[in-house]
Amino acid sequence: MSFDLDTFISDCADVIAGPAPSKAVREIVARAVSEPNALQQALGVPTRGQIQRLHVSDELTVLNVIWAPGMTIMPHDHHMWAVIGVYAGREDNIFWRRCDNDSNGLIEAAGAKSLGPGDVRPLGREIIHSVTNPTSQFTAAIHVYGGDFFTTERSEWDPATLHEHPYDIDKNVALFERANRSLEQGQE
Ligand SMILES: [Fe+2]
Repeated sequence: MSFDLDTFISDCADVIAGPAPSKAVREIVARAVSEPNALQQALGVPTRGQIQRLHVSDELTVLNVIWAPGMTIMPHDHHMWAVIGVYAGREDNIFWRRCDNDSNGLIEAAGAKSLGPGDVRPLGREIIHSVTNPTSQFTAAIHVYGGDFFTTERSEWDPATLHEHPYDIDKNVALFERANRSLEQGQE
């Protein structure tokens, strides 16, 4: 079976106003990544790290996230539900929680989940996670969010101190470009 992006987006859009949107989207994403090769054929073989916008509205964001080899993104939250489905490579997620009785927004590691092709992970509204591509290849994943990923105010945490700061989307996009540059330099 082939993957049709327009159908995927309209299927997600159809369920987001329903009673259990993330559960319904999880099923749609699971169906899509159950055939990772069809998904890769439709979206293209990854050649660079990027956050590719497939659909962005106030209620729904669909991204094709390509992690460069070895790339890590610092702990962050979303303030909206999310569903991640991996179709190439591997995403190692560390889940974090806020420390008890802490006034500085400090976090501590609470768990981990490694996702490979075909794996789907729903994330609750307040989940904090960091993501690493542990492989020497590109990792590719469909990310669906129940809101506007780019304008919603949220937090990120310094990976060294684990202190909370406002999320900086431009800095995070720049991390992908930096990973691409070091990849290109390594190939010269
Ligand atoms: Fe995230």
